[in-house]
Formats: sequence, structure tokens, C-alpha cells
Amino acid sequence: MVKYYEDERIFKLDTPNTTYMIGIVDEEGFIGHIYYGRKLKDAEASYLLRTGEPPFVPGRNNRERCSFYDCFPFEYPTGGVGDYRESCISVKTQGGHMTSMLSYVSHEIFGGKPELEGLPATFADEADCMTLRITCEDRAVGMRVELLYTAFNDTDVITRSTRVINMGSGSFYLTKVFSACIDMDNRDFDMVTLHGSWARERHIQRKSLGYGIQNVSSFRGESSHQDHPFIALTDKNTTQENGEIYAMNFVYSGNFRAQAEVSQFDSVRLSMGIHPEGFCWKLESGECFQTPEVVMVYTDKGFDAMTLSFHRLYKKHLIRGEYRNKKRPILINNWEATYFDFDTQKLLAIAKEASALGIEMLVMDDGWFGNRNSDNCALGDWVVNESKLKGGLKYLVDEVNKLGMKFGIWFEPEMISPDSDLYRAHPDWAIAVPGRTPAQSRQQYVLDLSRREVVEYVYEAVASVLRSANIEYVKWDMNRQLSDIGSAGLAPDRQGELYHRYVLAVYELQGRLIKEFPHLLLENCSGGGARFDPGMLYFGPQIWCSDDTDAIERLEIQEGTALIYPLSTMGAHVSDCPNHAIGRNTPFETRGIVALAGTFGYELDVTKIPDADRKMIPSQVAMYHKYNDLVREGDYYRIASYSSNRSYDCWEVVSCDRTHALVTYVQVLNRPNFKSRRILVKGLDADKRYTVSYVNNKDIEKTSCSGDTLMKAGLLIPNMWGDFKALLIDIEEN
Ligand code: GLA
Repeated sequence: MVKYYEDERIFKLDTPNTTYMIGIVDEEGFIGHIYYGRKLKDAEASYLLRTGEPPFVPGRNNRERCSFYDCFPFEYPTGGVGDYRESCISVKTQGGHMTSMLSYVSHEIFGGKPELEGLPATFADEADCMTLRITCEDRAVGMRVELLYTAFNDTDVITRSTRVINMGSGSFYLTKVFSACIDMDNRDFDMVTLHGSWARERHIQRKSLGYGIQNVSSFRGESSHQDHPFIALTDKNTTQENGEIYAMNFVYSGNFRAQAEVSQFDSVRLSMGIHPEGFCWKLESGECFQTPEVVMVYTDKGFDAMTLSFHRLYKKHLIRGEYRNKKRPILINNWEATYFDFDTQKLLAIAKEASALGIEMLVMDDGWFGNRNSDNCALGDWVVNESKLKGGLKYLVDEVNKLGMKFGIWFEPEMISPDSDLYRAHPDWAIAVPGRTPAQSRQQYVLDLSRREVVEYVYEAVASVLRSANIEYVKWDMNRQLSDIGSAGLAPDRQGELYHRYVLAVYELQGRLIKEFPHLLLENCSGGGARFDPGMLYFGPQIWCSDDTDAIERLEIQEGTALIYPLSTMGAHVSDCPNHAIGRNTPFETRGIVALAGTFGYELDVTKIPDADRKMIPSQVAMYHKYNDLVREGDYYRIASYSSNRSYDCWEVVSCDRTHALVTYVQVLNRPNFKSRRILVKGLDADKRYTVSYVNNKDIEKTSCSGDTLMKAGLLIPNMWGDFKALLIDIEEN
């Protein structure tokens, strides 16, 4: 619900439990942030803008204008005019000036939500949301800025983005353009972010917010393993179940900055947008620039509630395609099984064994094309290697189909190996700066996707392979980050557009692909989980979470990922031991139970693993079929975290009608004489009675309890002998 109160000059945006308020003040039309928090009945707190407090009165007193600017809570702060906190937008005019200032011009309020040109974004129809567009202008620059806000009716989410239009007769440069900002009072917050590395993505990090600027960012051309386009400010005592949280997540897959700045006046500016470093966009007269979208969630009910808001939004209003509400085929991927050493025979042997065990799709990973027998060559040469795949790709796919299995394939379309036919023919297609040899990473360069001919080549390369056989799944990989930013196709004053144009081209390519192949299941990937973000989820419903498939390492990776993203999006496989990323041995059963919390699949040579493990596969397959609807569609709750207690991990999914829940408990380290662990189940109906049964341990007796008891008194977890043990607990209404 969005409403404008004309007398008060206040916009009030309501979601089921939150209110966001914006005020227009003074004859200059400053647009100020009044309030974001628990739902308010009335639109009347504009005193929070503090415009009447001397010496900060805006219009009447030019003497202390700087002080006014420097403490006013701006909705979209500009720079160089007296607000010395970090701005959201920087321009460079033809005169070389770099200041700007925005005043309110007009607004529109309407049902539904417009698409953002060229960009992924959340979507909803008129029944589910309302949108406010505030138009403001800087007449000295000749710039119009549209601030777009959408308030959802079915979840506590407000989205924001910004559109900049050049209204003048000449061009100007945008050197920074963020998507959203909230100026609010400091309340001794903690800052929560997700940090990581290759094979250790998205670990939750929480620290005290101090004075000055604190940010996380990526300048790597993708959302990255290292920092994540997510930031949250929480109360010091915010827990899973209680406390305030202001969170932002960026629907974008390239460079970003997520920042909190605590000022001298004890205000906090929380902002998010495209990283300004390396960014410079030329806007000709009449042209516009659309920023990506920021998703904002506020709650006073702790992390469980924040997570539910993000999950509900992404499940209903971001992910598209036929697999969004459908069980995904259980796949077996040959990467950790064979690496580059495979041929048709080997793949068919794996497929045959796998199909007998109930696995539903074979995915052929890296190494099927050109001369690719190691990772040092052939990216770009998307021609089937027929000495490996004798009889061709179609033969292999048909044989796999005959086994009753689907077939999927791996691509890394954005890349070019220096040792490839493509590079020999088009060395200028690689991103590079004239006069300097670009840095290699995994012995490869990145294709310059700002060039039309390169985009067309890439599209046809992928699409023609998909047209040649019955391929029902694509794993779209990206195994290096960008460097040496230079394009042979862009004018000197447009080189600063390359990072963003690259991301736009990835979106265009994937958009075209799912349009031509609407039944395709697209799984994104980037050296594991370096491009796990809402931007990519708009195109494919699942993303490979991490190259680390160890069940114990996965606990923290999946916990951090699930803080924002639905379990249905997390690519998770059972792999062989000792684990290929860290050498740890864990029980096959635990590997299966941890992977059940994601898309579920296998990544091992099923013809070679121990018999005892192989025999367990049919029961894991059965568990997947029994529980995947619940895992995919249910509400997710975090019960305990190995990341903080260093002993055990526990999470739960509950069906939306509260009749069925599944609790996963992983005993990471057993402890002698340690008192039994008690877990409090969440999200049940207090008035219903439930049967509690232990899915993978029938020796433990079933019990029956009310939801009330299970949520307040909890459940005792029996002792399990050994480390790395897992228990799956089914809780179903009697
Ligand atoms: C990346 C992916 C892996 C695998 C390899 C192939 O590292 O994350 O799953 O596909 O590339 O080279």
C-alpha cells in the first residue's frame, strides 16, 4: 500500500508489518527519509526530519546551509554541496563540475511494478504490490532522477531503484549511481555481512558498527566469493527470533558496494549500488541509466523473520520458469568423478549404474569440446570433441535418454583461452588494455561482451549445441574474475562502461537462452558459488553453491546462503571421500542429509564408490522424493548453528499449512559426557498434535507431542556415536 498525504507532503509505504515514510520539505523540495520500521497507523512523524531545529533550518537561513545538508536525512543524497557524508550519485558535467543537488518535481503512484530495462528485478501484479515513482531534478546539470519504490502486500519487502535521465542538450558522465539509501538515527547497531573465499563462500560475519564508513564490496566483475551484495544492521541483542534488522540485498551480479556510514551527528547512512570504482557512464542528451534493484527488508522479529521475507519474495516474485515450483531431476555430475578424463563409454557406464539407483539426469561437465583435456585451453571452441564422444553428442544424449535419464551439459560461455582457435582468430575479443598483456587466471581471459559480435558468437555457440540434441539442463559456469578492463570496441570515454555492459550482456544472453529453450533447467555457477545472487536467480532457479562439497564445510556455506536465498536455489551434491576440496571423510549418510537441504544430486563415480555407499543411494533418492516439496516450498528456520556453538548444526523446514516439518540435526563433533542436546522446534501450530519420527534411525521410538510442547519444551536429541553424524526428524500432524 502506498499513499500520498498532500497536506503533510508525506508518502507512506506500508507492507503487512512495516512502514516506510518519505517527506518533501521546504520550497526547495528536499526529499527526506522520515521513518522505516514497525508499521505506523498515521502519516505524521515528519518532525523526525528535524528541519525546525536551529541552526539547521534549510530555506530561511543560508548562513548554516552546509550544516543543514550535512545532517538532513536524504532519501537520495547528492555530493559536493555540503553533505559531507558519502553520496549516492556523482556526475561530471561538460564544464567539468562534479556537484549535484536534487529537488522534488512530481510523483506517481500505481498498482504493480514496472520492469527495469535490461535488468533482472522482482515482479508482481497489481494485487501484490504498489509502486511510487518520485521524480526530482537538478536543473544546473540538466538531470532528472526517478526514485522508484515498490511496497509488497504479501511480504515485508520494499524494493528500490533509480533511473537517471539526461534532460540537457549536451552529454554528462555518471561516475557513481547507487540504487538505494536509508538515512536513520544510529542505535549502536551491529553490521551483518557474508564473507568468503573459493570453497568457503558466504560465512556469516557480525561486528559492531563504529563511527565512519564500513563497507563490503566487489570490484571483481561479479558478485564474488569474497563479499556478498548483502548488508544488514541489527540491534546488539538481535537473535534468530527477536530484535530489529534493516537488510539490503542487491539484484545484481557485478561490482557492488554495500555500505554503512555513521556520522558525527550519530546518524547512519546505509547505502547500496554499483561500485563506483572503474565506473564512468556517458549519458548523451535524452538517454537514461537504470540502476539495478535493491531489496530492503525490515523486521523486529530477528533473523528467522528476515529470512522468511527474502525467501517468500524470491520464491514468488523473482524466480521464473517451469522449475520454480517443481521438483528438479536428481542429477549426477561427472566433474569430481572423472575431471577431464572421460569418453562416451565412461559416461554411459556412470549413467547406467546411476539410472538403476534412481538418479534422473546425467550432467556432462567440463572437457567435452575442442581440445580441452585440461583447464589450460580451448574455452571458446564450443565444438564437440568427437575423439572423446565417439558417435557425437546426439548419440550420447540419445543413449542416456534410452536409460530413462535426462541429459545436461556444462558451458563456460563468457571465457576465451589464449590457446584456442577462437583466440587465434579474434585476439581482440578478449578484455585487455592496449600495450599490456592481460593477467591470466586459470589460464584464461574474459570475452569482451560489450561487443555485439562477441555476444552473437557466444549465443550461437551455446544455442547450436542445445539445438543439436535433447539437452534439458545447462550448467553455466564462470571461472575467473575480471581484470585489465579495456574493450577494443568502446570509445575512450566509454571504457568505464565495460564492467556494467558485461553484466548486461550476461543477462541478455541468459534471457535469450531461456526464451528459446523455455523448458531448460539453468543452473548458474562461478568457480563454485561466486555468482550466487538474486540477479542470476531471475534467469535460473538454482545456483551451484560451492566447489566445496564436504558435508561439514557445507554447513556454514549453506547457513550463510540460506540466510537470504531459498533452499530450492542451493546446488548441493553428495560427493566421494576423502573430499576433493579438503580431504575430510564423512559418512555417506550425512553427505546425503546435508545435500537434501539443497537441490540434491551426486558428483562421484557411482561405478567406483564403496558398495555400502552405493546401496544407500536408493534410500536417499526416496528421501528426496518424499521431502523435496517440503524443502522447496516450506518455511525455513534456523535452530542452532555450528558456526557459533562449534558442536552441532540444526535447521528446519515447515510446510505453509503447519502440518508437516522436517528437522535436520548434524552432530559435527561428539563430546564425552555431554548433556543431551535439546532443540526447540519452530513454526508449528501450537494447537495441533504431531508424530515425531526419526527418518534415518528407526531404533529411536516415535513420540507424539503437541506443537506447543515441541516449540516450548523442545525435543531431546539422542546421543550418536562418532563425529559427523546426522539425524533427520519428521514431524507430522497426527
Ligand atoms: C568450476 C565449477 C566446477 C566445475 C569446474 C569445471 O570450478 O565450479 O563445478 O564445473 O569449474 O572446470
